Amino acid sequence: MKLATLSQPGGLDKLQITNGPEPGEPGPGEVRVRIHASSLNFHDYAVVAGAIPTDDGRVPMADGAGVVEAVGADVAEFRVGDHVVSTFFPQWENGPAPIDNFTTTPGDGIDGYARELVTGPARGFTLAPRGYSHAEAATLTTAGLTAWRALVVDGKLKAGDTILTLGTGGVSIFALQFARMMGARVISTSSSDEKLERLSALGADHTINYKTTPAWGQRVLELTGGKGVDHVIEVGGPGTLPESIDAVRIGGHISLIGVLTGRSGEVPTAKLMAKQARLQGLIVGSRDHQQEMIRAIEANDMHPVIDRSFALDEIAVAFQYEESGKHFGKICLEF
Ligand SMILES: NC(=O)c1ccc[n+]([C@@H]2O[C@H](COP(=O)([O-])OP(=O)(O)OC[C@H]3O[C@@H](n4cnc5c(N)ncnc54)[C@H](OP(=O)(O)O)[C@@H]3O)[C@@H](O)[C@H]2O)c1
Repeated sequence: MKLATLSQPGGLDKLQITNGPEPGEPGPGEVRVRIHASSLNFHDYAVVAGAIPTDDGRVPMADGAGVVEAVGADVAEFRVGDHVVSTFFPQWENGPAPIDNFTTTPGDGIDGYARELVTGPARGFTLAPRGYSHAEAATLTTAGLTAWRALVVDGKLKAGDTILTLGTGGVSIFALQFARMMGARVISTSSSDEKLERLSALGADHTINYKTTPAWGQRVLELTGGKGVDHVIEVGGPGTLPESIDAVRIGGHISLIGVLTGRSGEVPTAKLMAKQARLQGLIVGSRDHQQEMIRAIEANDMHPVIDRSFALDEIAVAFQYEESGKHFGKICLEF
């Protein structure tokens, strides 16, 4: 079977397409899945670019979707032929988050889904949404579930709430779509006027160019009659958090999701305290959260925004494309 591996110290030129032995028959509690798609996330990029060191020869990619080929003893949940999608934390099935690192995450601490076949624990997958392509399903593992947990699980989003999304990457576009699906209003930012038009077409009520309006937090306040937004999908980190704190309403919720502008920096703590806002870090979600999200997706026939798909052989080119920042929504691998 074909697979991609990454040699250390990482770097896109350290990605190699090779052939490896097919995995064996599934044991008790396991399934064998023929993987047909994956999707790119900033985390996967950090791994393949060498910013996050992993074991030599690691198979990258946290997201995987495909078809069940064989089921082991004791597996009642899946049947041969089922379309499935992987989970980000194979060992976090339900309840509060038990883990604060990536040691069990496919494509980082363990081998991921840049490979045609995998045999592993059935709890590492859920059924994919009915009517989804494999590429669409693969977008859910990381980006989809992060946006869902931020808004719905932790944010307790209500119809009529207003949310703020930053930029047009995978997580932010999912947040826009989930918010619209659930009857909320959306304010979205981007560095590109052309992307702002696409955000409006997707249902954003207001858009702001964060390059030409660096004080975009104040602009959000103006757009909300001085009140601020109920939820912020904070994917920027230290470079954007001060503006997000300006933009949030008193008692609002900021989901601290991303580190696009860096890993640490100054936080205007007095302003955050005065806003009485809830600043919550999170990493993706549980298997239960994924199943709840998929139920909602099916009920609303919601589909993700896929910018482009690449073949497995083109994995390095796909990451160069992500690096360029030209994308809007998700970039996928299909094989
Ligand atoms: N905590 C978690 O569970 C979790 C899960 C998934 C992702 N993340 C993190 O969330 C972040 C986004 O991930 P992703 O996979 O969605 O990334 P992505 O698809 O690569 O998105 C990148 C986009 O972010 C926007 N951006 C870049 N710098 C920005 C800035 N200073 N202000 C506002 N927007 C900016 C750009 O949009 P424009 O071109 O429109 O300007 C860019 O296209 C990453 O830091 C990632 O590690 C965390």
